[in-house]
Amino acid sequence: MSRKGDQNLIVGLDIGTSKVAVLVGEIQHDGDIEIIGLGTHPARGLKKGVVVNIESTVQSIQRAVEEAELMAHCQIQTLLCGISGSHIRSRNSKGIVGVHEEEVTTSDVERVIDAARAVAIPADQRILHILPQEFIVDEQDGIHEPIGMSGVRLETLVHMVTASVSAAQNVIKSVRRCGLEVDDLVLSQLASSYAVLQADEKELGVCLVDIGGGTTDIAIYANGAIQHTAVIPIAGDQVTNDIAVALRTPTQHAEDLKMKYACALRQLAGSDEHIEVPSIGERPAHRLTRQELAEVVEPRYDELFKLTRAELRRCGLAERIAGGIVLTGGSAKMEGLVELAEEIFHMPARIGVPQYVKGPVEIIQDPIYATAVGLLLFGYRNRSARESDLNDSGGIKNVFRRIKNWFQGNF
Ligand SMILES: Nc1ncnc2c1ncn2[C@@H]1O[C@H](COP(=O)(O)OP(=O)(O)OP(=O)(O)O)[C@@H](O)[C@H]1O
Ligand SMILES: [Mg+2]
Repeated sequence: MSRKGDQNLIVGLDIGTSKVAVLVGEIQHDGDIEIIGLGTHPARGLKKGVVVNIESTVQSIQRAVEEAELMAHCQIQTLLCGISGSHIRSRNSKGIVGVHEEEVTTSDVERVIDAARAVAIPADQRILHILPQEFIVDEQDGIHEPIGMSGVRLETLVHMVTASVSAAQNVIKSVRRCGLEVDDLVLSQLASSYAVLQADEKELGVCLVDIGGGTTDIAIYANGAIQHTAVIPIAGDQVTNDIAVALRTPTQHAEDLKMKYACALRQLAGSDEHIEVPSIGERPAHRLTRQELAEVVEPRYDELFKLTRAELRRCGLAERIAGGIVLTGGSAKMEGLVELAEEIFHMPARIGVPQYVKGPVEIIQDPIYATAVGLLLFGYRNRSARESDLNDSGGIKNVFRRIKNWFQGNF
């Protein structure tokens, strides 16, 4: 990512099931990020968040990158890339070590994280992130910054995210085929959480639900740290498909109807507002009310939220998210969704739009760009952390080595 060697630029690439989005951010003197370039292109070649056709994915990335380069007047060389899909697994793990000197040093923290990562993972998976939740020095728990503390024993609890080697390789390969290098691979919902969640929500406990085209990506925070992540293979594409099947209309029309008229809660949709639905083949168009359309849409979102609620209960965090539900991603833009979420989860919900960056309102205000904006924030935060301290990419590790290791087998 350089405007010929410009270290102040940072680039995020969100390869979603519906669209590929590239954002170029410029780091300003005060440490803020200003978005100076955006490129988007419909994604072809992905299914439920996973690359299934490299050639088509490469083309989509190339178009989006060109567009972003043109707008930002720069030449992109490296970028941070989001990754999602049902192949992602996550678990919590624990590590314990003795403190070498009298106080905890960077090397102790490195060792304790290494101890936490020493768990058996399936042969086809590799570690994507090791995200420290808390450190415990002797009996004192709830520590976020243990370096410098006195003690003899250091423990850590971490959230470990693994991904399928081949799925990650296909993402990296697609980027490399465009002549670009991946700076880091980041779990999509982790990136989104950087863009849309507030610090006090993470402290209180919050469930982020990023509803895209192919997958719904979940990240749950409590006590200021990530506690659980999950991917549900239901999202906006199914809603479109439900409309197409129920109304017997081509998919493209179903998508248009969804965007313009759909509502996730039937009580909120007018029974006196009529819409015209084009039919398949030579058949004449037919009319229906917005309420009838909402009756097709609501069950799918209802199913999705109930699956999310089941996930919350399964991981034991349902009672720990006083901050409520934050909905983001393109499919969160549906009218009535906040009301439906509040009805199902019995807690407050809101739409999460990207924050913490400057730039054109149409980007900042759009949940579709949550992941892409989050990649910039993740990259910026870890860029400074990487030089001296821990980062969110799996401890003190060289990121370039991380990327190379997806192709080697000795991660
Ligand atoms: N105004 C809208 N109302 C309802 N749905 C919308 C609206 N705008 C976009 N969508 C839906 O959002 C989805 C795309 O969202 P997004 O761009 O976040 O997905 P993605 O990141 O490409 O996919 P994924 O994250 O699943 O891999 C599509 O299914 C689209 O129909
Ligand atoms: Mg997405």
